[in-house]
Amino acid sequence: MQGRLLVRLPAPAGRADPARDRAGRTVSVVRDGPFLPWPADLVELYPRNDEPTLRVNFIASVDGAATVDGLSGGLHGPGDKEIFDALRMVCDALIVASGTVKAENYDALRLTPQARAWRAAHDLPEFPLMVIVSRSLDLHLDQLIFSDAPIPPIVVTTRSAPAEKLAGHADVIAVGDDQVDLAAAVAALHERGATQLLSEGGPHLFGALAAADLATELCLSVSPLLVGGGPGRITAGPSGPPREMTLRHVLAREDMLFLRYARKTPGQGS
Ligand SMILES: NC(=O)c1ccc[n+]([C@@H]2O[C@H](COP(=O)([O-])OP(=O)(O)OC[C@H]3O[C@@H](n4cnc5c(N)ncnc54)[C@H](OP(=O)(O)O)[C@@H]3O)[C@@H](O)[C@H]2O)c1
Repeated sequence: MQGRLLVRLPAPAGRADPARDRAGRTVSVVRDGPFLPWPADLVELYPRNDEPTLRVNFIASVDGAATVDGLSGGLHGPGDKEIFDALRMVCDALIVASGTVKAENYDALRLTPQARAWRAAHDLPEFPLMVIVSRSLDLHLDQLIFSDAPIPPIVVTTRSAPAEKLAGHADVIAVGDDQVDLAAAVAALHERGATQLLSEGGPHLFGALAAADLATELCLSVSPLLVGGGPGRITAGPSGPPREMTLRHVLAREDMLFLRYARKTPGQGS
């Protein structure tokens, strides 16, 4: 089935939809406009931004579960892999926290030849940086994310962590004394030229990024499952003040929904 736009919102009084891509084309939900088809090129809808971006990608069930039987795999459905791959292709650095690396047995970051060709054509390094957040450094260094990496991953940890154990396995960014200072980590990645950041979670990492107001976008895939009680949400940990987000677009494929929200900046309308 072709993708369709399901959301029709009233246009804000006296103004067109403000969400446009760098070329000035409208790429978001066209309020009161035609249905948005599944694009031939997903990059049009998930572009690299001019400004530094921390895009968070998650999948959840319609009743808000982040996992089925402890993993995200049970939530997957038509379309989400394509968006997952497109987000990885356009980013400078992929960030994931140690809980997810271990639970999901994360592999090294590999891209298709087409994705690598796209990056070459856009003057980007062949692979994004792979960034793993861990305070304890209780990591499995024989996991493919380390042993099969095309470029050494970066582990973000604290200044008090025993970073010497990572020698030969990963580069280290040490930020914060006892807790990982995520804002400093983001700044350190920017200093390395990585301004388009993609987080694949998990919920504790997203919760901390949200609490620190570091997440600028959320790409949320909604899976047509009622999972019921048990699994947690896509954020976990201490809460911060709610942050307003604005809807950039909605795509659908069969019964899956794909929402792209961006952080609303002060003074920005709906
Ligand atoms: N639905 C989805 O899209 C999705 C996506 C990702 C993951 N998941 C699921 O989520 C689960 C894992 O998520 P999780 O929340 O338990 O773990 P997580 O967020 O992946 O990892 C948490 C770990 O990150 C490290 N960390 C270091 N500094 C941190 C900070 N400032 N804030 C937060 N974490 C910090 C800590 O590692 P150390 O203990 O090493 O210090 C902490 O234990 C798995 O079941 C996975 O399948 C679902």
